[in-house]
Amino acid sequence: MTSTSSFLIVANRLPVDRVGDDMWRRSPGGLVTAIAPVLQRREGAWIGWHGAPDERLDPFDHDGMHLIPVPLSRQEVELYYEGFSNATLWPLYHDVVATPVYSRVLWDAYRTVNERFAQAAAEAAAPGAVVWVQDYQLQLVPAMLRRLRPDLRIGFFLHIPFPPGELFQQLPWRREILEGLLGADLVGFQRPGGASNFVRLCRRMLGMSHQKHEIYTEDGRTVRAGAFPISVDFGELDSLVREPHIIARAKEIRAELGEPEQVLLGVDRLDYTKGIGQRLKAFGELLAEGAVKPGEAAFVQIATPSRERVEEYIRLRDSIELQVGRINGEQGELGQQPVQYLHQSYGRDELAALYLAADVMVVTPLRDGMNLVAKEYIACRNDLRGALVLSEFAGAADELRQAFMVNPYDVDGLKRTMLAAMRATPHDLSRRMRSLRRRVATYDVDHWAKEFLTALEA
Ligand code: ADP
Ligand code: G6P
Repeated sequence: MTSTSSFLIVANRLPVDRVGDDMWRRSPGGLVTAIAPVLQRREGAWIGWHGAPDERLDPFDHDGMHLIPVPLSRQEVELYYEGFSNATLWPLYHDVVATPVYSRVLWDAYRTVNERFAQAAAEAAAPGAVVWVQDYQLQLVPAMLRRLRPDLRIGFFLHIPFPPGELFQQLPWRREILEGLLGADLVGFQRPGGASNFVRLCRRMLGMSHQKHEIYTEDGRTVRAGAFPISVDFGELDSLVREPHIIARAKEIRAELGEPEQVLLGVDRLDYTKGIGQRLKAFGELLAEGAVKPGEAAFVQIATPSRERVEEYIRLRDSIELQVGRINGEQGELGQQPVQYLHQSYGRDELAALYLAADVMVVTPLRDGMNLVAKEYIACRNDLRGALVLSEFAGAADELRQAFMVNPYDVDGLKRTMLAAMRATPHDLSRRMRSLRRRVATYDVDHWAKEFLTALEA
């Protein structure tokens, strides 16, 4: 018999991607950034897909974590991952900023793959184990797993926004999704609004009774819903940027950019929810109008490759690359390009050095569950310098009130705010940064995980 664990993480992705025969690299995105340190601190296992199609792998250990791979066929990657997860749920849950695809074939694949994850969790869980299911790709797993293993304590956390009823009700399988989530003992959301949306929908669509955020199911269970805003490992980033090689690299980055007065930075997966086009448009107009001179400011946009076979992402890449080419073509000079665009993935050290080198961090999502990049930037600025421009539509806006807040749909507002951030006095910046850091230092990822797991185990 294979060994079982008393603590399990179940997520679509393992925290690693295969890059060579036996070479693994940290996989992208906020979910992995947040959960990996939690598992490293607890004895347990992580169940997930390892990122390649049509490949079966045995469980293995990596970086202090026990990993149990779940296989996906090429067709399942297309229908369940690229399809229902990222062409149906992702746009629907992000304010329909792209049009969701509704297809029964995609839904069938979603159900089949969720069943496989539930089965894998049922086999790997010790009696009475705590199982923590993650994110929109696996919303049916809680109920499926409960049917297989009623002895387990099941938690679910949604990393992305949970939409208001008016949008959620478009989904032809809305009842099934709600019933899937109700298999958990505790359903966590990033913001209080997400939890309220969920409770209201359970009442309206399923006729469930509830009191505040406790829902009473027909089989006599109580399911709790609540907000648990996710965070970063503040301590780790704070010490990392004190290391001499990171400080030296930050200086080197500024030199490589030609020592501009202002370095503006964007770090995102290349995703249409992130508002990359909006921020570039604002920066391009500031240059065109002469409010910012080309040598005065450099904009570095790191865009991690993401979901590259999904149509909307292919279109987005073309449009961003066109936009960057235009700005540089029209506003640049020989040897001087105002926008540095990098469609690549970077290691933690390089990202930390970039954060440290940036005077203005520009985070302008049209909708975002939380946005960990904003919190990472704050954790890296123990010099109390640097300005954070932050969209009102990121979950992080609830907590990071001292940021320079923007509505990313308002180009003039965005331009004004980016300029204000660039021109702010050192005194104003340090006052804001001190308060932002206090918040992120107190509510770090450890606090988040403890709060969720304590509520789940209570
Ligand atoms: P999302 O979860 O939508 O990707 P978040 O901002 O919450 O957005 O989290 C993104 C995570 O991915 C952060 O931890 C960030 O440091 C990391 N990341 C983003 N871009 C890169 C990159 N080019 N290379 C490596 N890590 C990246
Ligand atoms: C967001 C989602 C995660 C996802 C990550 C990267 O953070 O909430 O569930 O893992 O993006 O996306 P990917 O499709 O590459 O897993």
